[in-house]
Amino acid sequence: MKVVAVLGGQWGDEGKGKVVDLFANRFDIVARYHGGHNAGHTVKFGNRHFALHLLPAGVVRGRMGVIGPGVVLDLDALLKEIDELEAAGVSIGENLMISDRAAVILPYHRLLDAARERAAGDAKIGTTLRGIGPAYESVAARRAIRVAELFRPATLAARVGAIAEETGKLLQCMGETTVPTADDVIANLGPCAERIRGHVGDTGRYLRTRLKSGATLLAEGAHGAMLDLTSGTYPFVTSSHCSAGAVATGLEIAPGALDASLLVLKAYSTRVGAGPFPTELREDTGEYLRKRGNEYGTSTGRPRRTGWFDAVVARTAVELSGASAVAITKLDCLDELDEIPISLGYKLDGQPLSALPALAEDVARLEPEYEKLPGWKTTTTGLTRYEQLPSAAQRYVRALEDAVGAPAVLISTGPRREETIWRPETPFLTGLPPES
Ligand code: IMP
Repeated sequence: MKVVAVLGGQWGDEGKGKVVDLFANRFDIVARYHGGHNAGHTVKFGNRHFALHLLPAGVVRGRMGVIGPGVVLDLDALLKEIDELEAAGVSIGENLMISDRAAVILPYHRLLDAARERAAGDAKIGTTLRGIGPAYESVAARRAIRVAELFRPATLAARVGAIAEETGKLLQCMGETTVPTADDVIANLGPCAERIRGHVGDTGRYLRTRLKSGATLLAEGAHGAMLDLTSGTYPFVTSSHCSAGAVATGLEIAPGALDASLLVLKAYSTRVGAGPFPTELREDTGEYLRKRGNEYGTSTGRPRRTGWFDAVVARTAVELSGASAVAITKLDCLDELDEIPISLGYKLDGQPLSALPALAEDVARLEPEYEKLPGWKTTTTGLTRYEQLPSAAQRYVRALEDAVGAPAVLISTGPRREETIWRPETPFLTGLPPES
């Protein structure tokens, strides 16, 4: 397996940063193919801690990082992240290539994101307010500024001018009075562009050439399957495609190049922002899981909503990406519970349902059908071997595997690299490139 995707199987925040980091030393290149700095990937080892938003997590391991054309790029956020990593002693050096075709997030996109959320009132999506949705709208509307254009001052000025005029009018209609001028925007873009100039190139061609000559690639998913623009709980979703289908277009490689997908699943569920969440816990247990799991957004610091594991969500995600294995994270956060329900299906208007309905208003009315599993009431934090897990915890893992239809290649028992139970016998693991 030379090309592998690691993806989120719920509503994001499954622990993909840790999982990508665990696998990164088996791959030559780690690439982001969608989303923007709305993502938050945490990597911890020893006493070190990195929170990444745009840079592929593999750069922490000194791997070649690629930001593909499917990503929307906030230059200020990218440079801040590079500076923070370098201050922490991780040099990016030559290990970063940014697609010349990626779209640039402009201040207008951030203002529009905020204005739309304000206007929506109670129906707001609860976006990260990073301008992600409006930036993808510009891409689809064929008005986006691409990275390559940053180095063509004459066309850049004309195109930003046109965007400023159009979105300026729209923003004013929406009550936004302080809209930056095109000159202000260009004045900020210029120095940022100079700083990334040496990293910009045709990443699609680069990846296709490297793959042809035998290089290995890990595609790093952001967010999660239920935030996918098509398959998620629309309209309470992000504006990119999060499942394996987007790897090809987001990196400009052939769909057949992807050999396998690994889905990351938290042992329970969380969601940040608005939208339906069938297994949500609103009372004390929800608050308990939030505190125990430190469920506060890596990107925005917002408290995450918490709930029981939803097997329909996870199985759908496995199917959408054709995942041949899963990684189960945060098992230790369930250590103290007496019993742990998992939802195996739903009822809607009294009828059994084993798939998610198309409309968010119907997803919001789903009644989960729970199976209650016994808790193990003993600490599993930091365990590294499956046999060390209490039998009730092993039973819980097996129940998740059965419910989603894929084996767990690893089980995470704490945030650090070291706090991981590997399942060396799983075919997914034996098929991966060796560590190097
Ligand atoms: P946007 O991506 O900022 O437009 O936000 C749309 C929805 O996706 C909101 O509910 C966000 O909270 C959610 N979202 C976006 N990125 C992430 C993520 O990486 N983790 C969890 N939620 C996310």
